[in-house]
Amino acid sequence: MEGNKILIAPSVLSADFRRLAEEIKAVEKAGADILHLDIMDGHYVPNLTFGSVIIETIKQVSSLPLDAHLMVTNPGDYVVNLAKLGVKYFSFHPETDYHPHRLITYIKDNGMFAGVALNPGTPISTIDELLSELDFVLLMSVNPGYSGQQFIPSVINKVRELKSNINLQNLPTLIEVDGGVNNVNVLDLIDAGTDIIVSASYIFSQSDYSHAITSLRNVQ
Ligand code: DX5
Ligand code: ZN
Repeated sequence: MEGNKILIAPSVLSADFRRLAEEIKAVEKAGADILHLDIMDGHYVPNLTFGSVIIETIKQVSSLPLDAHLMVTNPGDYVVNLAKLGVKYFSFHPETDYHPHRLITYIKDNGMFAGVALNPGTPISTIDELLSELDFVLLMSVNPGYSGQQFIPSVINKVRELKSNINLQNLPTLIEVDGGVNNVNVLDLIDAGTDIIVSASYIFSQSDYSHAITSLRNVQ
């Protein structure tokens, strides 16, 4: 995995889709570490976003590692295709698959980092039996479906609990937090042990992406 610095993953969901290529190049130039792709199917969440055609285009304009966050009812159906497109991080919501343990192995067998995404209402203990198999855990700090929602602060304690479980087992698992993150709440998130910060609206609403990304990363 990427080491110890805080990784910033802009989510393209708040980018200006009329100029998607330019927007992606701009966040890359501004210091983004990873590009977060919110894949929604209109079933698991009410919103519908994009799939392989757009991801293929994104791959052509950026060399950033791609982080696919699957908010779909059959995440296993996307594994082979996204791996072929060069996606590096693949996360799914465990309640969307009958056999999450098997799916994690399948994702890794296809050469990607495997993660599960936990909604604000899902306890950390849900993944006790999966944790040692996971490359990363995505903790949602909003309910999935849209960018621009308000941060739910109870995630901070979940990060602490998860970090403690990871440390107790001496695992290399990374913690990613996604939803409503800004330059204020990021302080507590990093202090609690977050490794990867996802942000859509906070970054893309600012005119200076470099400043926005720096303000998320450079906190003590
Ligand atoms: C929500 C998505 C998030 C979203 C974050 O379902 O998973 O990645 O794009 O958007 P902000 O940062 O605006 O809350
Ligand atoms: Zn996301």
